[in-house]
Amino acid sequence: MIKIAVLGYGTIGSGVVEALDINKEVIKEHAGQDIEVKYVLDLRDFPGTPIESKLVHDYDVIVNDPEVDIVVEVMGGTHPAYEYAKAALEAGKSVATSNKALVAEYGPELIALAREKNLNFLFEASVGGGIPIIRPILRSLNVDTIHHITGILNGTTNYILTKMFEEGSTYEEALKDAQALGYAEADPTADVDGFDAARKIAILSSLIYGKTVNFQEITTEGIRNITDVDMKYAKALGKKIKLLGITYNIDGKIYSEVAPHMIDKKHMMYMVDDVMNGIETHGNLLGDTMFYGAGAGKLPTASAVVSDIIDEVKHLHVNIPIKWDAEPMVLEDHTKHWSKFFVRVDAECEEMKTCFKLEQLTKLDDYPDEYAIVTEELTFEEFYSKIEGNSHIRSIIQVK
Ligand code: HSE
Repeated sequence: MIKIAVLGYGTIGSGVVEALDINKEVIKEHAGQDIEVKYVLDLRDFPGTPIESKLVHDYDVIVNDPEVDIVVEVMGGTHPAYEYAKAALEAGKSVATSNKALVAEYGPELIALAREKNLNFLFEASVGGGIPIIRPILRSLNVDTIHHITGILNGTTNYILTKMFEEGSTYEEALKDAQALGYAEADPTADVDGFDAARKIAILSSLIYGKTVNFQEITTEGIRNITDVDMKYAKALGKKIKLLGITYNIDGKIYSEVAPHMIDKKHMMYMVDDVMNGIETHGNLLGDTMFYGAGAGKLPTASAVVSDIIDEVKHLHVNIPIKWDAEPMVLEDHTKHWSKFFVRVDAECEEMKTCFKLEQLTKLDDYPDEYAIVTEELTFEEFYSKIEGNSHIRSIIQVK
C-alpha cells in the first residue's frame, strides 16, 4: 500500500481522488499495489464529504510524515506550489503535478532535484490536460529530429474561436459564454493573451530539445483582436482561425511563437474544435503524428495525473530520466521567420493589391468598404517593411 497526499481539492484535486476511486482495480493492477490518499491539503473545509477525515491545513503534517511517498501538487500557481514541491522532494517524496506555471518556471530545477534524490518529478497533465504527450515526447519521439511541434494548447481560446466560427458570435459574446461555462477565468488574460499556450509550448519544446525554452521569450499574440468579421473571411476562404503554439527547428535554429493562424482543411488542426486540444509533431524519420483529446477538465486531467502517480509507485526511489537541462535555449529572432499573411484593408487602399504576389484576393458582399488579401510567404521583417505606415489595414493574421 502506497500513501499519497493531494495538495489542493479544486477541480483537478477532487478529480484525482475520484479517479483513484472509480478505477481502483485497474490502477492497482498497473501500480502493483493499492494507492491510498492519506491527506488532502486545502485552505477550505469540506464537511460531509469523503475527504473530511483526510483534510489538513498545515503542509508540515504531510512533509514530515514518513508514510507519505508521493505528493500530488494540483493547486496551480507558482507559490507556494514551488516551495511545497521542493520541500517534498527534499523530504524524499516524489511529486506529480498538473501545474504548467510551476513546470514552465521551475521544471529543470525540480527535475534535477528529483534526479539527485533518486525520486521523480512528473508532469504529464501540465500540457494538453488528459492527452498523453509528455511521455511520448520523452520515450518515443526521442528517436527523431523534430522539425516542428504545433499545438492547439488552450481549450478556452479554442472554445471562443469555435463559437465565433460556428455561430457568428463576436469575441466579447463568445468570451462571456466561455466564462459562464466555467472555461475562462473572471480575468481571462492568461488564456486569451496566449500566455497559457506559451508556457505549454515552452514545456514541450524544452523536453524535445533538452534545454530550457523561456516562455517569456516566445513571441506571443493572443486572440483579443480577432473579430467576427475576420471569422467571416476565414469561412469564405475555406479556413478556420486557431490559436497555435509552434516551435520550428530549421537546420538547428529554433523559432517559437504563439499566434492566431488561419488554417485550411488539409491542416490536421482544422478539426480540433471546442475545448479540445491537438498537438502535431513532424519528425525526420516518423513524419507527422497527431495527438488529440481533452486539454482540460476534471477527470481527463486527473487521468494524466494518476498515470504519473502509477509511474512513481512503480519507480519508488528510482529516477525516471528526463532530459531537460537548465541551460537556456537560444531562440532565433522571430522577425527572420516567415509566413503567409491575411490582410484586411480599406477598399480605397489599392496599394495592397500590388505590393505582394497575391495568393488570394477576396471581397465579401456584406463589407463593400474593404477587401482582403492573402500574401505569398515572406519573412515578418519583409512583410512589416512593406506595410509600414499604412493606416488602412484593419487586421493581419498569419496563414498556414
Ligand atoms: N486554461 C486552460 C485552458 C486550462 O483553457 O486550456 C488547462 O490548462
